[in-house]
Amino acid sequence: MKTGLFISFEGPDGAGKTSVLEALVPLLQEKIGETIITTREPGGIAISEKIREVILDVAHTNMDDKTELLLYIAARRQHLVEKVLPALAAGHLVLVDRFIDSSVAYQGYGRGLDIPAINWLNDYATDGHKPDLTLYFDVPSDIGLERISQNANREVNRLDLEALSMHQKVRSGYLRIAEQESNRVVTIDASQPLEAVISDAYQVILAALEKANK
Ligand code: TYD
Repeated sequence: MKTGLFISFEGPDGAGKTSVLEALVPLLQEKIGETIITTREPGGIAISEKIREVILDVAHTNMDDKTELLLYIAARRQHLVEKVLPALAAGHLVLVDRFIDSSVAYQGYGRGLDIPAINWLNDYATDGHKPDLTLYFDVPSDIGLERISQNANREVNRLDLEALSMHQKVRSGYLRIAEQESNRVVTIDASQPLEAVISDAYQVILAALEKANK
């Protein structure tokens, strides 16, 4: 692999994308026989993990929406330059749990902040870098919330505590993004059993690797 392939995983809470990502790593590792870098937003490196703690702290109920957006954007910038871009330059396959679309879906469609402004901030923070492929794990909000409530091991964060209406806005935002960016975003039906979701995601990634001739 010369320059790496950048794939983001997106979806509303409870879509199961993190479990799918974890299951895909050994499968892909065996298939391509090379190191795969997996990471997450907000976080992935020390500075961004600290920003994550500030954003997701359940005590921070008074956090202003624009402050929240700017913190996600700051975490994104540092994570991109410190971890993602060097890994791509080294030729790795990089799988990122959440990226630019999360800000548009959550802070834009979910919280109602201005979407052109978010697009501009995303562009500014990433110098226009976009994933080569985005897997959007789509799940109806009631199923997603039900899964969260059943998963006792999951850390409950500030955004999990939002009302159903916020989750519905986030999901419809994602559907809009998938429609508008159909050359980059592939929708996976995440209401299926986990094994079927993993299999669909694996096929989509294999096709992208083949297309990129990796
Ligand atoms: P996390 O526990 O990683 O959730 P998940 O496993 O569902 O990815 O928490 C990340 C939370 O932050 C999640 O609720 C989505 C939210 N988020 C935003 O609102 N905007 C963003 O730009 C990003 C990256 C995440």
